[in-house]
Amino acid sequence: MNVADLTARFLTAVAGEDEKYAHKAAVSVMNELKDDLDGVAGALDYLTGSGGNALQAFYRAPNLSLLKVRFPDGRRTPPHNHGTWAAILVLSGAEKNSLYTRGEDGTLSYERSIELTAGSVLFMPADAVHVAECLGDEPAIGLHVYGANVLGVERAMWDPDSLAEQPLDWSQYEGLAQRASAADKAPLT
Ligand SMILES: [Fe+2]
Repeated sequence: MNVADLTARFLTAVAGEDEKYAHKAAVSVMNELKDDLDGVAGALDYLTGSGGNALQAFYRAPNLSLLKVRFPDGRRTPPHNHGTWAAILVLSGAEKNSLYTRGEDGTLSYERSIELTAGSVLFMPADAVHVAECLGDEPAIGLHVYGANVLGVERAMWDPDSLAEQPLDWSQYEGLAQRASAADKAPLT
């Protein structure tokens, strides 16, 4: 498998679907890819670095984004949403996802945490808010798929200490991520 094959599988799956069902088509491709995690990892090996930033994106369109995301040991995100549905297929390592509900006024309520290992798929609807963190010494590396241009769409992030909601601004995101990573655990858990 190469990155063109991988991208084409998602584009083909999503192109044939009504927008309402695109997430189901994408998740079913992710479930098929569980059988070839090494193939997916090999296709994305050329994407170096960490984070889920523009350098780790390999496809971005108004209706679909494909990113390799790498969280090294000790890395935790601030609470954030995606402005669209999101799905994660873990390729290697393990990560913990803490899921929250956003109240009408922007306040967060903790819902539950899920531990993902290689081959796990997690789907999050458009209203989901989460914190992702690496578990263990090995980096958590995943294929992340989103139903919009995830690096351009309007999104929110929450201060990991005050839990105040603010627009997701990439120039401020890293500072929040560093404070989130320095904490003992995800907020409200
Ligand atoms: Fe996320």
